[in-house]
Amino acid sequence: MVLTTKHLLGTETLPLDDIHLILKTARSFREVATRPIKKVPALRGKTVINLFFEPSTRTRSSFEIAAKRLSADSVNVSASGSSVAKGETLIDTARNLESMSPDVIVIRHGCSGAPHLLARYCKAPIVNAGDGMHEHPTQALLDAFTILEHKKAIAGLKVAIIGDIRHSRVARSNVWLLRKLGAEVVLCGPPTMMPPGLSNLGADVTYDMNRALEKADVVIMLRIQLERQEEVFFPSVREYFREFGLSRDKLQVASRDVLVMHPGPMNRGVEISSDVADGAESVILEQVTNGVAVRMAILFLLAAGPEETEAMR
Ligand code: CP
Repeated sequence: MVLTTKHLLGTETLPLDDIHLILKTARSFREVATRPIKKVPALRGKTVINLFFEPSTRTRSSFEIAAKRLSADSVNVSASGSSVAKGETLIDTARNLESMSPDVIVIRHGCSGAPHLLARYCKAPIVNAGDGMHEHPTQALLDAFTILEHKKAIAGLKVAIIGDIRHSRVARSNVWLLRKLGAEVVLCGPPTMMPPGLSNLGADVTYDMNRALEKADVVIMLRIQLERQEEVFFPSVREYFREFGLSRDKLQVASRDVLVMHPGPMNRGVEISSDVADGAESVILEQVTNGVAVRMAILFLLAAGPEETEAMR
């Protein structure tokens, strides 16, 4: 019941044993959400700081709910409401927060590597809740958890990840995680949104959406990240949807029991049509539900001492 890693910084470096332990622990926390009183005393007396320097709906509320369901105290700090707005550095902010003895610091930051920097300067375990265009490991773990709720195993599945691969930390974390779990991963998007060197990740690469979707067991659609684009990567939204948007017609070539996923927030009518997003194949809201259980598992495994771990046996 003990992780080998002290911090959760990314899936690229996360050992397979740790991945299995997080997924197994999340399974045991999943049912807490169905109780009339949605709380267990697993992290009573512990403190979780959520440090969010970028907007978030799902990840921030999911970490906060996860901490509360474990009976931990959670504190939310955002860039605009903190002394970062007065010019304080990230390291000074983190070291000052650490002086208040948190048990875990969760950070989302626009710069790739920000959580890794904190991990060098802080004693508390650091969780990466999304760093720039680099990694979003808890999203990939909740995606794997959701797939496993529907499929017997991930090994041997064909997973197509489609859209704005260039700017997507979700794509990177998912490729590393799903490849470790034995999936065949296909990355697909317009050439302008596919950075060089993708095949080094161990994924197949195509610009042909039909090829990516053919016999796919899981389709993960990615949001067009307009906020990270300094140049124009496609001529128009209509053209993007025609070539790379997921419609019911295009989905016909996928496996009969295909799962449609999206990390959110969705651009309906841009990367996915509403009838698919809300259709029978969609597990998009299940991903959000499962995110709480996965983050409960991560907070518990990083913050629990021997006593709390023993009490959970
Ligand atoms: N999936 C995800 O990271 O969503 P938020 O940006 O709302 O946290």
